[in-house]
Amino acid sequence: KSAAIHSATVSAPTNIACIKYWGKANTHYNTPINSSLSVSLDQCDLRAVTTASASSSFDRDRLWLNGSEVLDVSTSKRFRACVDGVRALATDKIDPNTNQVLVSKADWEGMHVHIASYNTFPTAAGLASSAAGYAALVAALVQLFGAKESYPGEFTAIARQGSGSACRSLYGGFVAWRAGGAKADWSDSIAEQVADESHWPEIRAVILVVSDAKKETSSTDGMSTSVNTSELLAFRAKEVVPKRMQIIEKAIKAKDFDAFGKVTMMDSNQFHATCLDTYPPIFYMNDVSRSVVQMIHKYNEWAGEIRAAYTFDAGPNAVLYTLDKHVVELLALVLKYYPAKSNDFVEEYVSSESLAKEA
Ligand code: PMV
Repeated sequence: KSAAIHSATVSAPTNIACIKYWGKANTHYNTPINSSLSVSLDQCDLRAVTTASASSSFDRDRLWLNGSEVLDVSTSKRFRACVDGVRALATDKIDPNTNQVLVSKADWEGMHVHIASYNTFPTAAGLASSAAGYAALVAALVQLFGAKESYPGEFTAIARQGSGSACRSLYGGFVAWRAGGAKADWSDSIAEQVADESHWPEIRAVILVVSDAKKETSSTDGMSTSVNTSELLAFRAKEVVPKRMQIIEKAIKAKDFDAFGKVTMMDSNQFHATCLDTYPPIFYMNDVSRSVVQMIHKYNEWAGEIRAAYTFDAGPNAVLYTLDKHVVELLALVLKYYPAKSNDFVEEYVSSESLAKEA
C-alpha cells in the first residue's frame, strides 16, 4: 500500500484576454492592479495536458515539460505555491466499496509529487503556454489530492500564484479575474465565469502566428518596469479598466459582437500604449502586427460593422475574434494579404502551416 502511485490526468486550455492584465499590485501574492477578462480557447487544440502523481516511494518533487525534466523545480516559488497550496486542501481518499481510508490527508502531506506536462501546440509558437500549464497543474493536483475549496474561487487564487493569467484558464467560456485587494491576504483576487462555453457558440478565434520567436521581455519583467515608470498604466488601471469590464460583460451577456469587438481592440491598443509609455519602452508588436491592425479596421469599415477584432498579448502574434458566419471571409482576407510562401518577406514572419489556425 505504502509504495502505491496515485495519479490524475487533466487538461486545461489557454486563454486570450480581451481586457488585459498588466501590472502587479502585490508581487508576493501575484495579484493585479486591475481586473481582466478572457476567452478560454477550450474548443481548440491549445491545451496543456498534465499528469500529477504522488507516492511515498518518491524521494523528491520532479517536473517534466514536454518530456524534458525541469531541474531544481522544488525550490521554484511558483511551483511550490501550486503544489503546497492544493495539498493543504487535500481530503482523505476513501475506497467507495469498503469505506476504508486508502490515503489520509496526513499521508498526502508525506508524499512527493511527480508532474508530467505537455502542450498540444508547439511551445515555440510564442503563444501563452504558462496560463494553460499552471491551470492544468492545479487542476491535476486538485483531482489527485481530492482537494476541496474552503471558499469559492480558492483554486483560482492558487493558480494565479503560478502565473496570473492561469487563474482564468480554470473555467471555460468567458472568464473575469477580479483584482480584489479588499482582503489583506488577497483571497478576493479570484477568477469567475461570466458566461459558460455554451453561451455564445458562434464566437471564433483565429490565431495568426506572426513570429514563433521567444518574447524578448517576460511579462513579469515588463509589468514591473511598467508599474514603476508608466503614468498611463496607473491611469488605465484606475480610470479605464473598471468601465471596460462593465462594457464587455454587458456585451458578452447580450451577445453584442460590435461592442465586444470594439472594446477588445481598444484595450489591446491601450495595453501596447502602456508598453510604449514604459521607460525604457517595450515593443511587443512589430510591423506585421500593425499591418494586421490596419487590415482589420479596413475590413470592418468595408463591412459597415465590426466583423473581426484583433488583440495582441506580450508578443507580435495576432488573435482575431470573429463570428462563425464571417470566418471564411476573414480567412480569405488574411490569405490574400499574407499569402504564405509567396514572397520572402512574408515567409520570414508567417509560415504556411501556422499562418491561420482556426481555434
Ligand atoms: O499571466 P502572465 O504573467 O503571463 O501575464 C499575462 C499578460 C498578458 O497576456 C499580456 C495579458 C493577459 O491578461 O493575459
